Amino acid sequence: MTSEIAGFGLGLRPDHYLQFREHRPKVDWLEFISENYMVPGGQPLAHLDAIRRDYPMVMHGVSLSIGSSDPLNLEYLRELKTLIARVEPAWISDHLCWTGVDHTNLHDLLPLPYSEAALRHLTERVSQVQDLLGRRILLENVSSYVSYASDEMSEWEFIAELARRADCSLLFDVNNVYVSSVNHGFDPRTFVDAMPAERVRQIHLAGHEDHGDYIIDTHDHPICGAVWDLYAYTLERLGPVPTMIERDDNIPPLDELLAELDCARSIAARLRAPVAVAAA
Ligand SMILES: [Fe+2]
Repeated sequence: MTSEIAGFGLGLRPDHYLQFREHRPKVDWLEFISENYMVPGGQPLAHLDAIRRDYPMVMHGVSLSIGSSDPLNLEYLRELKTLIARVEPAWISDHLCWTGVDHTNLHDLLPLPYSEAALRHLTERVSQVQDLLGRRILLENVSSYVSYASDEMSEWEFIAELARRADCSLLFDVNNVYVSSVNHGFDPRTFVDAMPAERVRQIHLAGHEDHGDYIIDTHDHPICGAVWDLYAYTLERLGPVPTMIERDDNIPPLDELLAELDCARSIAARLRAPVAVAAA
């Protein structure tokens, strides 16, 4: 059964398998890293199957390398399709980036040049992937530390145009936008304003390492005040998009993440609350 996703979720991490299996904490849905379960058996897959019985799920990949000039990895896509058939996620996502070239994996989510040539390249590849998988995918904005001299447009213009041409959906990572806005010196609200609301199906929230005049996107800290503020702005502009907290390292006790998720719920509830009109 494929479930619809709404509300507030968490990234499923091995540290919390048993709590999700035994205590079923109140989370509306879970996201898991596809590559960790693209195997025919083993304990992680057994945990995933068991937890899937209680929670709607979405899949999040890190290896599609949609922007690379290498041919698409058809073996990877076949394995991904097998996992999709097993889990029946509401949707699948990966990153708008490249992770290697000439069959060398650089193990990083690297930014693309924002050019017409890159747009044409990406549009063709996203369409190819969507045809192969038989469904739309979500692509996520990555954080970055460098830009290309050959850029012809902003990142937000590039993403909006790619989504339109390739007819794909978007995963909007609020933290990544904030990190890039500090590193590159732009107003993150300009990025939010350019997103096509009808295509943004999921939001990521995360923490980072602040070095003052630059930020390293570590996903290993609690969410900071500036990212919460940008999240509120994002919900105002894009509406009630399903939101989750993405912690990739320095995994805290589950209760800490659930408390952070309550902050996201409160912000969304505050925005939905009717504005009181002062009596004359
Ligand atoms: Fe993310």
